[in-house]
Amino acid sequence: MQPDIIVTAPLPAFLYDPLKADYRCHDYYQSSHKPGLLAAEGARVRGLVQGGGTVTPTELLEELPKLEIISVFGVGYDGVPVAYCKERGLKVTNTPDVLTDDVADVALGLILMTGRGFVRLNRFVQAGEWEKRAPELTTKLSGRKVGVLGLGRIGKAIAQRVSAMGMAVAYTGRKPQDVSYEYVRDLKALAAAVDFLIVACPGGAATKNIVNAEVLAALGKKGTLINIARGSIVDEPALVAALEAGAIKGAGLDVFADEPRIPARLLGLENVVLLPHVGSATRETRQAMGDLCKANLDAYFAGKGVLTLIPELS
Ligand code: 8YV
Repeated sequence: MQPDIIVTAPLPAFLYDPLKADYRCHDYYQSSHKPGLLAAEGARVRGLVQGGGTVTPTELLEELPKLEIISVFGVGYDGVPVAYCKERGLKVTNTPDVLTDDVADVALGLILMTGRGFVRLNRFVQAGEWEKRAPELTTKLSGRKVGVLGLGRIGKAIAQRVSAMGMAVAYTGRKPQDVSYEYVRDLKALAAAVDFLIVACPGGAATKNIVNAEVLAALGKKGTLINIARGSIVDEPALVAALEAGAIKGAGLDVFADEPRIPARLLGLENVVLLPHVGSATRETRQAMGDLCKANLDAYFAGKGVLTLIPELS
């Protein structure tokens, strides 16, 4: 008997098709009558598949009395009520490691695009401006300082990349690590000391809006904010205000507070580079994430235990 799985996010075919081959899948995300689906199938559901950004309310989990495992198609699981899952003995898995390089590449790209003005300069060429005037001068990157908020797997991969470019690295996080980079305990002090502040920590209640107006003021006119983690970590209205006022130099953002909605005021700014949450969006990496997402379910339902349990539950 194939285990019943509920799917609460849009999944790519290269994950969904193999899932459908091995499980009885219930598409909660697409369902036009969600209460009906839960009433008909909820009691049988043993697994749940969701995306990294998907918020899973405990009320939904309450409707799934036989649920055993949540497999997240993504590294971030800030949308999963972890304390509740722990209490109920639910397994939660994610897809770490396989996306680290791609997300770090996007951070590096945003540093280059903001620091060297590449997006503005591209617009300049495409608009035929080059024939009329000289391009703007931008900022030398090597020798500048990068501050990493959250020196986890992705933060470390970013640090490696910017080190290779001759940039200095400092970081903040819960505690100093055994690395050669400078540790700065206080986020505001880190912002004050760097040219680029890179947000690379997990989202969720513990980090909500920690990059606030004060931190942005400390980053100041010399500083650019890069966010490849979660929009929730940055106070978005404060960021928009700082960018409009020129209180910070610029921002490179792959993530936003209410995706895919982006504040209209951000869209019109010259000192930002905005990407549609594409940190892990290469074919190779999304395939690897999909494979790992399914492999966690397969291993669990084969009685072998999961492959990548989230740290809070291990
Ligand atoms: C994906 C992400 O966009 O891994 C994460 O936490 O945010 C991204 O890699 C998302 O998980 C796809 O569902």
